[in-house]
Amino acid sequence: MLKNSQKASNQQIQENNGDGRSIIEVVNAMGTSDGAGVRLKRSLGSPALSELDPFLLLDEFKSDQPDHYIAGFPDHPHRGFETVTYMLAGSMLHQDSVGNSGNLKAGSIQWMTAGRGIVHSEMPQQVDGLLWGFQLWVNLPADQKMCAPKYQDIEPETVPVVDNGFGLIIRVLAGSASGVTGPVKGIAVNPLFLDITMPANATFTREIEPGHSGFVYVFQGNGQFGKKATVVETAQLGVLDKVGRDLKIKTEDQAVRFLLLAGQPLGEPIARGGPFVMNTKAQVLQAFEDFRSGRFIQNS
Ligand code: CO
Repeated sequence: MLKNSQKASNQQIQENNGDGRSIIEVVNAMGTSDGAGVRLKRSLGSPALSELDPFLLLDEFKSDQPDHYIAGFPDHPHRGFETVTYMLAGSMLHQDSVGNSGNLKAGSIQWMTAGRGIVHSEMPQQVDGLLWGFQLWVNLPADQKMCAPKYQDIEPETVPVVDNGFGLIIRVLAGSASGVTGPVKGIAVNPLFLDITMPANATFTREIEPGHSGFVYVFQGNGQFGKKATVVETAQLGVLDKVGRDLKIKTEDQAVRFLLLAGQPLGEPIARGGPFVMNTKAQVLQAFEDFRSGRFIQNS
């Protein structure tokens, strides 16, 4: 809810009792490229912040120059985690070795459980105009890393939008907000994944499950996050501490739009090797070997 300044000061008193979450680190997204040369900004899964258990990677791709995206993400494998693609503008065609395909258009979200192995591609379906979206990697617990691959393709119309009428708009992708639950179900770590827009001069407080790790990624404007009112700007990721429950967000002269992610940490060893994320180095080497010998496609 938006609160007026009187309520905001009451909130401040409550947070001084130790209930509020703070931002403990602000990370600048790093310019890089992936796939066949798609330019993107990586804020998680980079040298500055390798992971935030259970989250492994967050990329934002945003360009209206076809050279930056047209080559797309041709066939490549994954094992041991889940990939989430959330589109804001443009469209991409997903195809995978299990036989799934789907056109990811603006506002849609696709959740792919790579499990024991999948080969997929994501290719832009446009030759000009803006392509804008995110890719998130969510880890799988050790006992589910070798599960059968799964795929959920969610149309924009099925993403609930909570609009309070004052400019606070929440797109509920996974988890719940204001009594509505997002469409992505059956994800091992059962995360909270919200796309939140706040107008200028507003305050909003959101409860995060105690003990869950989480972060915000700002992709338009800026805001003040947490009980220390840490400023997080466009293309920055703010890491939440694990203590406390309520995350307070405040805007001044600018609106802000950001992703809010939270989830129960797995607390298991992480061994990464390119497109594979396992628990040990031997398992990563086995993944490379299985992919080389064609076992990903047979397994799927
Ligand atoms: Co992929």
